[in-house]
Amino acid sequence: MADKWWKKAVVYEIYCKSFYDSDGDGIGDLQGVISKLPMLKDLGINCIWFAPIYTSPQVDNGYDVADYQNIEPAYGNLEIFKKLLDKAHAMGIRIIMDMVLNHSSDEHRWFQESRKSKDNPYRNYYIWKEPKEDGSEPNNWGNYFKEGNGSMWTFDETTGEYYFHQYSAKMPDLNWEYEPLRREVYKMLNWWIDFGVDGFRLDVISRLKKSPGFPDSTQQPDPVTDKGCFVADRRMCTDIPGIHDFLQELNEEVFGKRGCFTVGEGAGINPDNALMYIAPERKELDSVYHFDLSSRSRYTITPEHFRTVQKKWAAVIEQGGWAVQYLSNHDSARQVSCYGSDGEYRTRSAKLLGTLIHTTPGIPFIYQGEEIGMTNVYFDSIEDYDCCYTLGDYDALVKNGVSPEDALRTVAPRSRDNARTPYQWTGADNAGFTTGKPWMKLNSRYTEINLEKDRASDDSVFAYYQKLTAMRKEHVAIIDGNLQFYVESDPQLLIYTRHCEDETLLVIANYSGDKARLILPDVLKKGQWKRILSNTEDKPVMSDRDELSPWEVEVYQML
Ligand code: NOJ
Repeated sequence: MADKWWKKAVVYEIYCKSFYDSDGDGIGDLQGVISKLPMLKDLGINCIWFAPIYTSPQVDNGYDVADYQNIEPAYGNLEIFKKLLDKAHAMGIRIIMDMVLNHSSDEHRWFQESRKSKDNPYRNYYIWKEPKEDGSEPNNWGNYFKEGNGSMWTFDETTGEYYFHQYSAKMPDLNWEYEPLRREVYKMLNWWIDFGVDGFRLDVISRLKKSPGFPDSTQQPDPVTDKGCFVADRRMCTDIPGIHDFLQELNEEVFGKRGCFTVGEGAGINPDNALMYIAPERKELDSVYHFDLSSRSRYTITPEHFRTVQKKWAAVIEQGGWAVQYLSNHDSARQVSCYGSDGEYRTRSAKLLGTLIHTTPGIPFIYQGEEIGMTNVYFDSIEDYDCCYTLGDYDALVKNGVSPEDALRTVAPRSRDNARTPYQWTGADNAGFTTGKPWMKLNSRYTEINLEKDRASDDSVFAYYQKLTAMRKEHVAIIDGNLQFYVESDPQLLIYTRHCEDETLLVIANYSGDKARLILPDVLKKGQWKRILSNTEDKPVMSDRDELSPWEVEVYQML
């Protein structure tokens, strides 16, 4: 039986800036979240992950932290956050913070000091290197946002050296090799635990360690997507030997000692190396948020891909690790637009996708708006986009000769801004998000897709998600059951069971926009099954028919 609270959790990610604005300044805030806690309770989630809410110049919407121990003034302050925490706890909802330990903002006090002189006590909190003999960057690594000239190094006049940043020049990497920096970080994390938070989502945690000696990447720059001579070769800073020493020390000094939950954002963590990070006896992280199923660059998921990924991660879980299930977040496009269908079958496919992440092994993570089936946006000007990746990719394409129209067409479908438009509460002005001018344009479909409308119907995506979260509380097999797929070569069907000593559940899904012929495997024909969830109007049970509607899904329990 699952022993840890988080194994039974349903986590809801809040991107505060776009959630709910309580004071009319066009920016979502913590008071807004407090007012919506009852809605989250009704949804049935029991843990909130806050994307960064710390003081920040907002270059990357909070992933550029200027003060780890304070709240972004536009969102509120520590007192309001404490109130939120207490209220959430009283409702049985835990809170995990997004902790950005790979980099800070260049406006952080540490960096302000670090750049002052080579002998400043904070100098080694960051990574500084001398220019090459010709004055150029220390190596050919390209920043992921394709910012500036494309390099991961920015020259600082004051001391005549370059500093290192995997992302923006305004987000310098912290130097994890330097013990005083690590000690300072542990102090800060323990302070948050004393404050009352229940755990951490650890941003790009597999990237704390860099390739020793910072050697040039041998990868050739892509003439269309890279900028100049720099290559965004993520391997140089991902899952580098030595990373586990950092994680073990973090566990010893904070996570394990204080018993808080951790989920590591796991670029480069895959079923082959996952146990190194999450096997309980290694005392590093509790779980991993991996990118095998869904990611910013994945446009579609096929049943075959779904089965392959789920089987591999189920094997990791069987060996004692734990992972999460999700299809979208603040870094991706909207799941219903990518992996489902946002036209005629929007609600049905949204329910199907929700079923998949709630019935496969691991912790389901719902991203705000997914529970009402929010869709991608289609802004027709690059001016309306805000995301660093979108702007950087667009800029690189245009600089490499792609027309602005084609560049926009290329970057828009996977832009992170698809997920960052304000939450659609009602069909009224600004979707009820703010009484002021929203910080980001809304999705024009808000009169058709909004929470108020969903809550007025028993058949809505929201009502279905309520059933999903309730189902996880009632059915032990969803948490502990092993995973077995059937009809594995079928291009449309996803059929699987979750089985444990006390219970067997069966999920039958048509993962396609066309009708599918239902092939029920013999083993399943034998049992007596009770339908416990369905996303289509009353239909005969599966054993009495041989066809599935587009995007149809049903869940059965063996009697
Ligand atoms: C991953 C975060 O989820 C993303 O939003 C951010 O841009 C990068 N890490 C850098 O912090």
